[in-house]
Amino acid sequence: VTIRRATIEDIICMQNANLHNLPENYMLKYYMYHILSWPEASFVATTSDLNEPELDELSLEDGRGNEIKLDPHYVAPGEKLVGYVLTKMNDDPDQQNEPPNGHITSLSVMRTYRRMGIAEKLMRQALFALREVYQAEYVSLHVRQSNRAALHLYRDTLEFQMLNVEKSYYQDGEDAYAMKKVLNLDE
Ligand code: ACO
Repeated sequence: VTIRRATIEDIICMQNANLHNLPENYMLKYYMYHILSWPEASFVATTSDLNEPELDELSLEDGRGNEIKLDPHYVAPGEKLVGYVLTKMNDDPDQQNEPPNGHITSLSVMRTYRRMGIAEKLMRQALFALREVYQAEYVSLHVRQSNRAALHLYRDTLEFQMLNVEKSYYQDGEDAYAMKKVLNLDE
């Protein structure tokens, strides 16, 4: 598995993975906004091990007898997306008195690739870039109270602080933990 910067070519696969893994979904233009505005802040995990398709592959024939595989997770021939982290700088005009700070919009890893440290690697790359490239002094995120895996990653592995509970933050009424991590240059 390789971690690399997300590009505009990746956004359809990122959106597909997001639809597959999370109930919080976004329009393609919101992915585009992230990648165009903060091109160094979002990352994807990809693999060339194509033996374990997560979804049914569609096959097409190219008219010359060659098979073309269409899988919504292929970012390029032979390269399949298995995880992503979508991040941005906070550009809320109401927060102009705050120091520059980043936001983790969405993170997910395809099920068969979980518990291999991929999310931690994606997050560490993103935190580093937000600090080094965009001068973020801290980053924030929201997570469902019931999301044990993500809570473990943020609170225990990455040492985010719990800020507060935002009641009924999600559309289905679930509360969110608002979390924050101060970014130090030497991390
Ligand atoms: N239960 C308990 N702990 C877990 C679990 C779990 N199910 N999954 C991972 N962890 C722990 C790992 O043991 C590891 O801890 P360690 O540092 O003590 O060893 C740590 O979390 C990081 O594990 P990774 O292997 O890096 O995490 P993974 O690649 O499996 O991805 C993720 C974690 C992203 C939460 C994944 O489970 C997933 O995609 N879930 C569905 C989508 C989701 O919930 N995304 C987060 C939403 S919040 C947001 O987007 C801002």
